[in-house]
Amino acid sequence: MNQKFVKIKKVKGTLSLPGDKSISHRSVMLAALAEGKSKIINCLESDDINSTINIFRQLGIRITRDRNEIIVHGKGFQGLLPPTQPLDAGNSGTTARLISGILAGQKFPSTIVGDESLSQRPMKRVIDPLKEFGALISCSPNGTLPINILSSRKLKAANYKLRVASAQVKSALIFAALHCEENSVITETEITRNHTENMLGLKVEENKNSRKIFVSKADYPKASEYFVPSDISTASYFIVLALLLKDSFLKIENVSLNPTRIGLIELLKKMGGKIQVENEQVSNGEKYGTIAIWSSELKNIEVPKEIIPNIIDEIPILSIAGIFAEGNFSIRNAGELRVKESDRIEAVCNNLKAAGLSVKEFKDGFEFSGDIKNRNVTFKSFGDHRIALSFGILSSVIGGKNSVDGFEAVSISNPKFIEQLKSISV
Ligand code: S3P
Repeated sequence: MNQKFVKIKKVKGTLSLPGDKSISHRSVMLAALAEGKSKIINCLESDDINSTINIFRQLGIRITRDRNEIIVHGKGFQGLLPPTQPLDAGNSGTTARLISGILAGQKFPSTIVGDESLSQRPMKRVIDPLKEFGALISCSPNGTLPINILSSRKLKAANYKLRVASAQVKSALIFAALHCEENSVITETEITRNHTENMLGLKVEENKNSRKIFVSKADYPKASEYFVPSDISTASYFIVLALLLKDSFLKIENVSLNPTRIGLIELLKKMGGKIQVENEQVSNGEKYGTIAIWSSELKNIEVPKEIIPNIIDEIPILSIAGIFAEGNFSIRNAGELRVKESDRIEAVCNNLKAAGLSVKEFKDGFEFSGDIKNRNVTFKSFGDHRIALSFGILSSVIGGKNSVDGFEAVSISNPKFIEQLKSISV
């Protein structure tokens, strides 16, 4: 679907956005594993979350939805039923990778498949460490889906140091370790999002160089009520829009403020962005609050390496802010962008070139300079929601006759983006 955009002069008002994607996935998973009825309030309604819900339904879990509230009737330890068909994770890396850790601990064989994009993404990063926990698991010879979990071997606790900075891999291992009597220790040297350990209340030891997570069957989840704060990644598009448009002021309520997710806000503030956090609260170990944003003059700054895992999903929209900031934009140490829902380095570079910027592409990032020269561009989404949303924002800022092809990809994380955009446009 080709989505046209008109220039937005300014934005004003207050937005309430859908639930955080990472926390929604995990709430459904923890609730399905627990024994009894759990309630999830403000659960994201999107294609990715439907992939997770549908898989648990195939595994015998009753899940009902009433608007943005979900009831999950979990079956407790070893309560999942063998699926009769391959489990389809759709476009969702979080679903495929996290569920592989859960399935590795079950007493039945299973297969995970996905759509064309997910079928090209690396899965060995989760297969190899799961084998160290004793899992009988394999993927295709080129390291991609389908993932096959072969049989009912009992998992054994392990000490594992993560080789890729990935919350998805870390979480898969935590799920596997929940199926072992003994303690496992999972160590990360680069800080990735910590929702899984937060929501399970795991013991974590942290020093300057690493974080150690301790987990065993004693930490197995119990039925609970979850409140999912709004998604900071979804908010990031509106934050950048409000910063870039003159005379704008926007408030976004109940947004997740987990410290492992707010890197973009910290960076934008350093770039000169007027952003204020108000009314901070905590639920299920997760911080949230209101974000207030005022139009600002930005300047590009160096992006530190350590912050990359924290802003990994926001780099496309950060680069849109970078176009209008003083100085040249540069991002490096971000090779992981090449294995997301699309190759996000290639996707951003192609679209920026189409708008007339001078772009240099690297294996692990990109740089650009110059101004927008073309205001009649059909940007491409590359089938990737974050690319579609980022270039939807750019189109709304620059006006002209811009559009985004393949805009339907936004249904992965925020199907109501256009309505939300209209509601704040003046
Ligand atoms: C996610 C972790 C990140 C992120 C993805 C969601 C999660 O991926 O890019 O959108 O929910 O754990 P990696 O952990 O693979 O970097």
